[in-house]
Amino acid sequence: MYRTRTCGDLHLADEGLVVTLAGWVQRTRKMGGMTFVDLRDRYGITQLVFNQELDASLCEQANKLGREYVIQVTGTVRERSNKNPNLATGDIELEVSKLNVLNTAVTPPFTIEDDTDGGDDLRMKYRYLDLRRTCVRKNLELRHRMAFEVRNYLDKQGFLEVETPVLVNSTPEGARDFVVPSRMNPGQFYALPQSPQTLKQLLMVSGFDRYFQIVKCFRDEDLRADRQPEFTQIDCEMSFVEQEDVLQLFEGMAKHLFKVIRGIDFKEPFLRMTWQDAMKYYGSDKPDLRFGMKFVELMDIMQGHGFSVFDNAKYIGGICAEGAATYTRKQLDALTEFVKRPQIGAKGMVYARVESDGNVKSSVDKFYTQEVLQQMKEAFGAKPGDLILILSGDDAMKTRKQLSELRLHVADQLGLRDKDQFACLWVIDFPLFEWSEEDQRYYAMHHPFTSPNPEDIPLLDTDPGAVRANAYDMVINGVEVGGGSIRIHDSQLQDKMFKLLGFTEERAQEQFGFLMNAFKYGAPPHGGLAYGLDRWVSLFAGLDSIRDCIAFPKNNSGRDVMLDAPGVLDDTQLEELHLKVELK
Ligand code: AMO
Repeated sequence: MYRTRTCGDLHLADEGLVVTLAGWVQRTRKMGGMTFVDLRDRYGITQLVFNQELDASLCEQANKLGREYVIQVTGTVRERSNKNPNLATGDIELEVSKLNVLNTAVTPPFTIEDDTDGGDDLRMKYRYLDLRRTCVRKNLELRHRMAFEVRNYLDKQGFLEVETPVLVNSTPEGARDFVVPSRMNPGQFYALPQSPQTLKQLLMVSGFDRYFQIVKCFRDEDLRADRQPEFTQIDCEMSFVEQEDVLQLFEGMAKHLFKVIRGIDFKEPFLRMTWQDAMKYYGSDKPDLRFGMKFVELMDIMQGHGFSVFDNAKYIGGICAEGAATYTRKQLDALTEFVKRPQIGAKGMVYARVESDGNVKSSVDKFYTQEVLQQMKEAFGAKPGDLILILSGDDAMKTRKQLSELRLHVADQLGLRDKDQFACLWVIDFPLFEWSEEDQRYYAMHHPFTSPNPEDIPLLDTDPGAVRANAYDMVINGVEVGGGSIRIHDSQLQDKMFKLLGFTEERAQEQFGFLMNAFKYGAPPHGGLAYGLDRWVSLFAGLDSIRDCIAFPKNNSGRDVMLDAPGVLDDTQLEELHLKVELK
């Protein structure tokens, strides 16, 4: 037997026991006639002690151990004289009587400690060593527990896990596809699924009724902290359901996860907000509701007083940051610079402080009387000590998005985005279509299989842009952790949808003929949702990037620096695939 116990489970109660452990040498320290070694495995760290007086040659061997050597030791559990309260096994140590070096190790390129000296790139290159660090390993353990609880919950609700293929055709989720050439079908390519959307709908036609899959999805899109080119969905679909059934069931799953993983018991139903309200009051379809700063529109109050920037604007709106009147001129200038960054694109920012006597002092005082400024203050319900920040612009949607960035930035500065606090929200009533000025056509906001709100079906012919969808997102702390919809199950309505999206009949047939055909054979009403597992785990672990809860993630250029992927193919492979590479 390589070991009788692990490095995380020995305590005072085990004193006197003779045990065998195996693991990696984290650190060695020589103090007088004693050598101490921290031995690490997946379960924890145990201090080993080698006593020169008891066995000089054994101590000599211990002194030669290098970092990350793999060793096996047998010894007696002893109470420590110098206890370490920060370590689960900190009350004991193992007095070693036998040491066996199972493998040596070259010096690792960075220290394998939570507080490592390794930079991002280096750690990604040697990800297998990075994964030895407790803080990284814990994220993967959490991921496992969450996936396990998801399966538990869904199994109890009668869901079946069904695997769908990875070599498929393009699925229209709005990103670019990753493609795979087919050797047996020269000149043809598979696409990796952006999600198993159409396949899960087909499973409903097959009568599976409740499907789920914890599944890899692939999207060739620009990467951000919450996006990876391959990521994992908890993908679900149900038959004979309406929107309310889906929301209830998946809110139940969210609450289950919060309870069993984080020990948080959400008794109240999650808040629901229409997409319209989310955009109007927070300038975002994924508002962070851990804090207030709801937008207040100021067109009525602020226009017509001779300040041309506001007078010519199509939208004027602001936020009130409680207690932030102490912001210095320098801090306010920095905020102005922040909103003027090209990524945000505002032209400027107006601010107003509510002073201790209730008077309002603004950066545009010369255009406004105190009376008007007081009206503005009332509109926000602002109190002495508060700071009002205002943006304006000629496009309401764009300006709201800029104000949303400012809101988040100020909340970060004020420490209002506490990672241990969770604000959960359903955003509902998304528009069915999104108009693209550039392409002069409508795109599906969710995907082309999303059903319109039945009340709005007449608008499909007259005002498609105003049609609301039976679509919903779950948002937690400003992160979209999932989304779904009730689907169209009627082939005629689906036909109409494709037409509105600019598909010719031939193209719709070519791309989605299989689905429309299937619908002719008795498709039940159905709907579903997909949660993003990576985002759930990072939220629960308080991570800044989903990369940290993925064993082998890609970097921001979509590369796996450890595998050095993607790479070029050799000539033989290209030949077999009937391909010739010519870069444009
Ligand atoms: P959607 O595109 O909204 O819906 O994706 C569902 C959820 O998956 C997560 N997600 C991502 N996570 C990490 N990296 C990415 N690149 C990434 N893209 C998406 C998000 C998101 O909410 N087929 C539909 C679902 C349905 O209608 O049932 C779909 O894929 O958390």
